[in-house]
Amino acid sequence: MRDQIQLLSGSLIREVANAAMGREDVLPFWFGESDEVTAPEVREAAARSLRDGETFYAHNLGLPALRQAIADYVGSLHRPVGMERVAVTSSGVSALMLATQMLVGPGDEVVAVTPVWPNLTAQPLILGGRVTRLPLRARQGVWRLDMDELRAAVTPATRVLLVNAPNNPTGWTLTHGEIQAILDHCRATGTWIVSDEVYERLYYGAASAAPSFLDLCTPQDRVVVVQSFSKSFLMTGWRLGWLVVPDGAMDALGKLIEFNSSCAPVFVQRGALQALAGAVASVEPLRRHFQDCRDLLIGALARLPGIEVHAPPGGMYAFFRVAGVGDSLTYAKHLVVHHGLGLAPGSAFGDEGQGWLRWCFASRELQRLEQGLVRMRQAVEAGLPGAAAASVLR
Ligand SMILES: Cc1ncc(COP(=O)(O)O)c(C=O)c1O
Repeated sequence: MRDQIQLLSGSLIREVANAAMGREDVLPFWFGESDEVTAPEVREAAARSLRDGETFYAHNLGLPALRQAIADYVGSLHRPVGMERVAVTSSGVSALMLATQMLVGPGDEVVAVTPVWPNLTAQPLILGGRVTRLPLRARQGVWRLDMDELRAAVTPATRVLLVNAPNNPTGWTLTHGEIQAILDHCRATGTWIVSDEVYERLYYGAASAAPSFLDLCTPQDRVVVVQSFSKSFLMTGWRLGWLVVPDGAMDALGKLIEFNSSCAPVFVQRGALQALAGAVASVEPLRRHFQDCRDLLIGALARLPGIEVHAPPGGMYAFFRVAGVGDSLTYAKHLVVHHGLGLAPGSAFGDEGQGWLRWCFASRELQRLEQGLVRMRQAVEAGLPGAAAASVLR
């Protein structure tokens, strides 16, 4: 076994979930998904494909009709993108891995804006890359990127800059000014940008999508955009995503897809085609519902004593701090064991998240969030676990 693999950290979210093993009464908000099932017409499109016998291998880059539909969808939100720059992938996380395989070799330097979903930083390590973390800074619950720090961290020696905005877990979102500045700097250093934009439609600003590199970059820029059907279309279990790559990169990417998964399942792609056909009618109501979830949760958390929280401009997570909590993992386990409340420890997203907690507010019913809030209030009123209790939980 390679050292890089042996040294990978296990998931701290799983560790909290394991503390709830065998308990029926825990309300889980730890994973990044809604408890709502995929729309019936999307499920029917996939079922029809299977009934029609579409059970064979397909093109590496995806069904041409789906690539075209994705290109049209992307173009409706950002600058026009030709389908020859779009590849369908078997999940967003696989899209990220393909982008990393395309760009990162042993010893290559990757700068990642953090805290961030741990898969982004684990993948370059798996491939032998070196990851430098560029921390966002939190002030009164609001997370910001210091552009001077970015310019200092990304040098001509930096192969890839990894950015995830809207960010999991903080909800931090880039402005167009920041995107332009990052683009200008990376053009000067020759650094590739891998931009994970899977939460772009879960954006609570005035526009229908969060600011994207695809609003500003040209087809010649070294920018790879990672996308997923999971979040905006409630399709986490379908495992489908896509990549937008610059001109000239598709032949290499097609080979990589061949050697990874060969192609995404056709029936899953048929479901995705239906999801995109219904996007205009489905995504905006979903976004509004998530905004209601966000406002309910953040408003109520902010009223609890000792909680530092701010409404995130994008994504589907409340990222907050409870006064006196030093170790997120210990406190998250305490919440599970003593209060039946399942949250993700902020430290799962890196040291920058230590002391913080992540609560996924994507809930079918607002009532489920209210039930969770009752438990959070009880936990806050009960006070922090004593040293003895904490050591048992460790
Ligand atoms: C930031 C980020 N990127 C990518 C993904 C991958 O999504 P999927 O593999 O479900 O398409 C996730 C999932 O939680 C995520 O949070």
